[in-house]
Amino acid sequence: MRFTLEHTDPRSSARAGVFRTDHGEIRTPIFMPVGTVGSVKGVFHRDLVEEVGAQIILGNTYHLYLRPGTETLYKAGGLHRFAGWDRPILTDSGGFQVFSLTGIRKLTEEGCRFQSHIDGSRHLFTPENVIDTQRLIGADIMMAFDECPPGTAEYGYAAQSWARTSRWLERCFDRYRRTECPYGHHQSLFPIVQGCTYADLRRQSAEFVQQFDADGYAIGGLAVGEPAPVMYEMIETVNAVLPQDRPRYLMGVGTPVNILEAIERGVDMFDCVMPTRNGRNGMLFTSEGIVNIRNRKWAEDFSPIDPMGHTFVDTHYSKAYLRHLTVAGEMMAAQIASLHNLGFYLWLVREARGHIVAGDFAAWKTEMVEKLGRRL
Ligand code: GUN
Repeated sequence: MRFTLEHTDPRSSARAGVFRTDHGEIRTPIFMPVGTVGSVKGVFHRDLVEEVGAQIILGNTYHLYLRPGTETLYKAGGLHRFAGWDRPILTDSGGFQVFSLTGIRKLTEEGCRFQSHIDGSRHLFTPENVIDTQRLIGADIMMAFDECPPGTAEYGYAAQSWARTSRWLERCFDRYRRTECPYGHHQSLFPIVQGCTYADLRRQSAEFVQQFDADGYAIGGLAVGEPAPVMYEMIETVNAVLPQDRPRYLMGVGTPVNILEAIERGVDMFDCVMPTRNGRNGMLFTSEGIVNIRNRKWAEDFSPIDPMGHTFVDTHYSKAYLRHLTVAGEMMAAQIASLHNLGFYLWLVREARGHIVAGDFAAWKTEMVEKLGRRL
């Protein structure tokens, strides 16, 4: 078994565990920085490890397939070697990116036809070739090929979409079991629970995926337009059905508050572009609340970016200086904000883990949620 559940919180469903990969252990709950094309935008791998404390990063099948392409990745010896990152990597399967990036796509039983956002060239993703591509990327955790419908999807569409995603899942596992990692390490394949905002579909989906006895399970199709309380309800519904002894990964979520609410409901793994993307736009997440560094009020605030922060930029640079760089459109502003935000997200999940182990997660979480949502 790759996952060991070490602690469960006495007053909630929060859990602390360890997931073992051939590129190292991941202590959960964990946040995984997004490195779409094999780089977490603006952050050196060295800083991800030493400053942020990242244990695993994400790559995207869609982007890596289009550029640099599987031939180059294979010749390089896989993404770990190509990118110089020797820790765990998870790849999303591509479906979600195809749906969100391009208007030019067609879904059929076979898979999804789409046009590249780079040069308009035509491609087809199928459950089989998406597994082949992730094998060549060499991800430690590969994701099943799924459709992620909008949060507002009607029941009829949600039901037929989930049914197709389930048939695709059988094809993914069939291919997975007939192939192996070209670089010799173990690759896990996580199914993705779908079903939009419909509890019965979510329950059926969470039951269906268990037949594959996977190393872990993901919850997809959330934070796509539905209200946060509905998302929390769906997480509770799904986690009541998923096995206790495997990690649960909530895809694409979210704000620091969303993450604590989901940890309380038994989620172990997270990824989101928010700390880097919003950071590049001047939004900083801190333990006292959210800072819009573009705001004039910081123009002459020479105090550190975040005196309680955990990366070197937090105490080395002032708010006024970071504001100046942001307003001037300097590259360095994006780098500083990204490092700060990722450092904050990783600190948050480490703290959550510490409080789960200590047995006082619920009280700590209530106090944190109150602070994290404030606008400073
Ligand atoms: N990222 C965020 N949500 C999803 C989802 O539902 N499916 C996939 N594959 N990736 C996601």
